[in-house]
Amino acid sequence: MVLLSRIMHPCLFFLVAWSAAGVVKGAAAEDFLHIHPEKPVVEYGTSVVLNCSSSCAPINLETSLKWAEAGTGSTWKSFNFTEVDQWSVAPLCYVNCERTPLDRRANFTVYRAPERVELDLPQKMEVGKEYNLNCHVVDVAPIRNLTVTIFKGGKPLLEKTFENHTKPQPGNITVTYPITVEQQDHNESITCHAALDLRPEGPLLEKPSASQLLEPVAFPMDPLLESPLSAEIGTQMTVTCEVTGVFPAEEAMFELSFAGENLDLSIHVLEETASAQALVHLPSIGNHELICTVSLGPVKRSVNKTVTVFALPKPIPEDDHLKVVVNTTVNVTCKLDGVKSPGVVMQIKDKNQTLASSEDSFIINYEVTTCEEDDGREFLCIAQLQVNGTEVTKNASVKLTVFYAPRITNTSCPSVLTWKEGSMEAFICSAHGNPPPTVECRRDNMVYHIGVQQQIMREHKGVYHCNASNAYGSDAKDVTIVVEFFQLNIVAVALSVLGAAIIISMVTVGYYMYYRSHKVRKYRLKQQAAGNPMEQKCLNGGASV
Ligand SMILES: *[C@@H]1O[C@H](CO)[C@@H](O)[C@H](O)[C@H]1NC(C)=O
Ligand SMILES: *[C@@H]1O[C@H](CO)[C@@H](O)[C@H](O)[C@H]1NC(C)=O
Ligand SMILES: *[C@@H]1O[C@H](CO)[C@@H](O)[C@H](O)[C@H]1NC(C)=O
Ligand SMILES: *[C@@H]1O[C@H](CO)[C@@H](O)[C@H](O)[C@H]1NC(C)=O
Ligand SMILES: *[C@@H]1O[C@H](CO)[C@@H](O)[C@H](O)[C@H]1NC(C)=O
Ligand SMILES: *[C@@H]1O[C@H](CO)[C@@H](O)[C@H](O)[C@H]1NC(C)=O
Ligand SMILES: *[C@@H]1O[C@H](CO)[C@@H](O)[C@H](O)[C@H]1NC(C)=O
Ligand SMILES: *[C@@H]1O[C@H](CO)[C@@H](O)[C@H](O)[C@H]1NC(C)=O
Ligand SMILES: *[C@@H]1O[C@H](CO)[C@@H](O)[C@H](O)[C@H]1NC(C)=O
Ligand SMILES: *[C@@H]1O[C@H](CO)[C@@H](O)[C@H](O)[C@H]1NC(C)=O
Ligand SMILES: *[C@@H]1O[C@H](CO)[C@@H](O)[C@H](O)[C@H]1NC(C)=O
Ligand SMILES: *[C@@H]1O[C@H](CO)[C@@H](O)[C@H](O)[C@H]1NC(C)=O
Repeated sequence: MVLLSRIMHPCLFFLVAWSAAGVVKGAAAEDFLHIHPEKPVVEYGTSVVLNCSSSCAPINLETSLKWAEAGTGSTWKSFNFTEVDQWSVAPLCYVNCERTPLDRRANFTVYRAPERVELDLPQKMEVGKEYNLNCHVVDVAPIRNLTVTIFKGGKPLLEKTFENHTKPQPGNITVTYPITVEQQDHNESITCHAALDLRPEGPLLEKPSASQLLEPVAFPMDPLLESPLSAEIGTQMTVTCEVTGVFPAEEAMFELSFAGENLDLSIHVLEETASAQALVHLPSIGNHELICTVSLGPVKRSVNKTVTVFALPKPIPEDDHLKVVVNTTVNVTCKLDGVKSPGVVMQIKDKNQTLASSEDSFIINYEVTTCEEDDGREFLCIAQLQVNGTEVTKNASVKLTVFYAPRITNTSCPSVLTWKEGSMEAFICSAHGNPPPTVECRRDNMVYHIGVQQQIMREHKGVYHCNASNAYGSDAKDVTIVVEFFQLNIVAVALSVLGAAIIISMVTVGYYMYYRSHKVRKYRLKQQAAGNPMEQKCLNGGASV
């Protein structure tokens, strides 16, 4: 039967076309020929049964599909389309009713459920930036029956239908939604939903995509890179790279490199701030690039900085304590050893001024012919370098000791000392000299103790011979000590003694006169008490008063 209809097909087509035109005027095909279902819905590649019923006979079928008879009755015939493998088919049932050909077509809806529904959007998205959220529905037919809905957290963002799509063939559909995320969208889920609605004749086929959680990322500013602009070779410097206002801060990925080498980092996160710290060893001189790169999801930000590594050794004095005899010439010499940056300047200075200076030479000297005043003088050896606009210096000091013979001056040892007898005074006589000289002052082989407080007596007067000496020589000077005493005092003492003697003698004379006038009375009394010698002695005593 299949074979027959295929062979007949071209002729039959013309026949039908011709006969249908005739039918329009007469009875309607619907009244004499029924097909069920009228609008078959069939999944591509599966089977469907079509029942044509009519009081007229025979019932014939015209189709390009494979079919088999699935049953027959007196007024009906059912056809099993065993495998619907075309997208656009409309089999034709036809009969001849009283020589009038009648036919009806069954317009098939051939469908294919979407094979896959896929979401396509970046996992992490930058806050405030627009991204395309794509939903791919793969291999679906008919597209005009498709509805694609994108949901965010259960609420539809977009619903799209394709009713103007006319092609029955399957195709791939991509629905695009421009999405902008906020930080609050964190953990919201996005899903895409495809529905192939074939109702009422067919099923409603639904297929959701896998859901995807939103991971908004905030990274609004470039990192802040903190490090010194310059550092000394061999030292370590701490470098910090920090990002603020980032979300989620704990996901910030840091990469720090110095001079092309990656550094070991320690990461700290506090709320919306993340920072990385590294200790950098500075092995070689020159300008090195410090680069910090921070990535957070799709955002990557990088900052760099040039760090100048310099080498400036400390000057080394040949002798940091020069000890020389006065009037000799000595060199203050300093040198620089080891690695050094170009442009190092060396200088020798004292408190006042620059004495010597040299560039690009690593030994410097200053010749001094010493005088006494140079004793205790200090020199500074300075190494200097301009590093990126700032001056770096290192220095070492050199001390100078000058030995010289003693010198006694008028101020340190006056020629004449005038003292008052009885006052407390100390003999001061010193001398300049290095090492400090010993000073001795003598008079007639008698050594005067210098600097000791002493009560001054007349014997201290005289001419003293002072001698100062140290290992480098001696100096001498005579010092005259004058002791003042007052002649006037002695006269006064003599006068007062004389005065007292006069007074005493006058009193004595006066008393004697008085005694003599009273002597007779007392004598009597004396005789009455003659028996007691003790009494007599007492009376005598009393009389002598
Ligand atoms: C086909 O349709 C006729 C008339 O409606 C009915 O009697 C018959 O049972 C149907 N056949 C099948 C197989 O459903
Ligand atoms: C139609 O054909 C298919 C495939 O051969 C078969 O599986 C199915 O049972 C048939 N249907 C009927 C009603 O005969
Ligand atoms: C099938 O489609 C054709 C044209 O596309 C239309 O003329 C015909 O009426 C349709 N048949 C049914 C049963 O809807
Ligand atoms: C479908 O086509 C009609 C007519 O051209 C139009 O009015 C309608 O907006 C179209 N629908 C869509 C979804 O494009
Ligand atoms: C649909 O997409 C799939 C892969 O996803 C591809 O193999 C196929 O060829 C596409 N179909 C069309 C019609 O572009
Ligand atoms: C996000 O959701 C996952 C699973 O739904 C959950 O484990 C996680 O704790 C959530 N995170 C936040 C920050 O809400
Ligand atoms: C979907 O398919 C059915 C056939 O089952 C049809 O009747 C309906 O009009 C279609 N819907 C759209 C929107 O094309
Ligand atoms: C350092 O940053 C500047 C701009 O700030 C850029 O031009 C340069 O290429 C960067 N250098 C490196 C090594 O990344
Ligand atoms: C040191 O030199 C000065 C001047 O050249 C001279 O007057 C003085 O005597 C010298 N002193 C010694 C200790 O040689
Ligand atoms: C000081 O150094 C210079 C240069 O090295 C040398 O010519 C000079 O003789 C030295 N002077 C003394 C006193 O050593
Ligand atoms: C500076 O040098 C001058 C002579 O060169 C000297 O008189 C002065 O005392 C010095 N000042 C200091 C602070 O050394
Ligand atoms: C520091 O050095 C770098 C690299 O040589 C240079 O780009 C920068 O301008 C310098 N800065 C100053 C203040 O000299």
